[in-house]
Amino acid sequence: MKASFLWGGAVAAHQVEGGWRDGGKGINVSDIMTVGSHASPRKITPVIDENEFYPNHEAIDFYHRYKEDIALFKEMGFKCFRTSISWARIFPQGDEEQPNEAGLRFYDDLFDELLKNDIQPVITLSHFEMPYGLVTKYGGWRNRQLITFFERFARVCFERYKDKVKYWMTFNEINNQANYQSDISVLTNSGILFQEGEDKEEIVYQASLYELIASAKAVKIAHDINPDFMVGCMMAMTPIYPYSCSPDDMLKAVGANHKRFWYLDVHARGKIPAYMQSFFKRKGYHLDITEEDIATLKDGCVDYIGFSYYMSFTTKGDGNEYLDYNEATDLCDNPYISKTKWGWPIDAKGLRYTLNWLYDRYQLPTFIVENGFGAIDVLEDSNQVHDQYRINYLKEHIEQMKKAIEIDGVDVLGYTVWGCIDCVSFSTGEMKKRYGFIYVDKNNDGSGTLKRYKKDSFEWYKQVIASQGDKL
Ligand code: BG6
Repeated sequence: MKASFLWGGAVAAHQVEGGWRDGGKGINVSDIMTVGSHASPRKITPVIDENEFYPNHEAIDFYHRYKEDIALFKEMGFKCFRTSISWARIFPQGDEEQPNEAGLRFYDDLFDELLKNDIQPVITLSHFEMPYGLVTKYGGWRNRQLITFFERFARVCFERYKDKVKYWMTFNEINNQANYQSDISVLTNSGILFQEGEDKEEIVYQASLYELIASAKAVKIAHDINPDFMVGCMMAMTPIYPYSCSPDDMLKAVGANHKRFWYLDVHARGKIPAYMQSFFKRKGYHLDITEEDIATLKDGCVDYIGFSYYMSFTTKGDGNEYLDYNEATDLCDNPYISKTKWGWPIDAKGLRYTLNWLYDRYQLPTFIVENGFGAIDVLEDSNQVHDQYRINYLKEHIEQMKKAIEIDGVDVLGYTVWGCIDCVSFSTGEMKKRYGFIYVDKNNDGSGTLKRYKKDSFEWYKQVIASQGDKL
């Protein structure tokens, strides 16, 4: 492993910060999502309802406690820490001409504290959030004007933090919205609330194209401001395996992967792949994309591939000659792997497969910016948390990552464990789906002291970093 390898942890602003109205912050889309569970989805309430509980409003109060948390990251030996900038702290409604100074100052202080502790900030511009004003006034990313607002936001951040942040990402898991049956994925990726009877698929593809154009513009602006910046994309990299080696299953998996990974093809190669052009034509979609946009995409290719890896999926052929794929109906169980309590398949070797797949395809450095194990942890009376299951999961994944680096020769910039400190689950809004090395005393209903406790995995990860991944 290279000495410069970026070991660390990852979170997102809305899942940890809280302080939802502090420092002039506006309401963002995660602020209108209630708590849910594996069995009952989070609700989206267009206006804040006093009778509902919104877990992101306080989250784990990182906004006020980040110094204490960074001291713990330092103790573990983090080389980097991935978080995001809450767009609504900088532009509370999203369409202002001038940024909110108090919001900018918060991130100045946060990044200074990280740097003081020799921890590099790794920053996502939009991690599942945007000002809610852009939803109510413009309809979110279905509207081309969003490109201008995002450009302004990106430029302000790049200018302001040009000497503090080197590694950036534009949109978190931009491909999640391809699963447009999930209202929360579409709201958080694109700020879209569907109206009755709309063609969801066409709207999501249009929004995705606007986001890809905005991302390319941001990459260009970033490089003009500081040529040393490394700007990446961020994909939910869930490879989709064929159920068997039957040619039908193999082909179906090709089609399924296309629908998830075309985003990456645009980010990394700067053009819309032929298979998607042919799909748009067949569907008869009238997508708004100009010659100028096509040139923009070409000009704004990313410097590295950031991705999350939690699991792999599996699909079976169904005779559809277009290889169409619907994530809600076309997945099947993989008999070779088990699942977490939340139904997420566990497949460590899939990480090695993924790293090879990405590096073969793009020959760009890769960055594992999320990997982790969500579980129900128990804080014992002695204030200890024995999370050997988490250690096992991470150990197996790090082993596979090392094989990809040392045997297969994949270029990997770093590895950040998701939810290095317990935070609000994105999909369910729960606190009890915990990923951290640090336990936060906070419950699903919002009760708890917010005190932090080290889990067994804390000491374990410390030794992993100190030994450059040798002591697992
Ligand atoms: C990724 C997201 O999809 O997975 C994170 O980028 C999210 O925001 C993480 O929290 C884990 O998902 P969940 O639903 O278990 O919190």
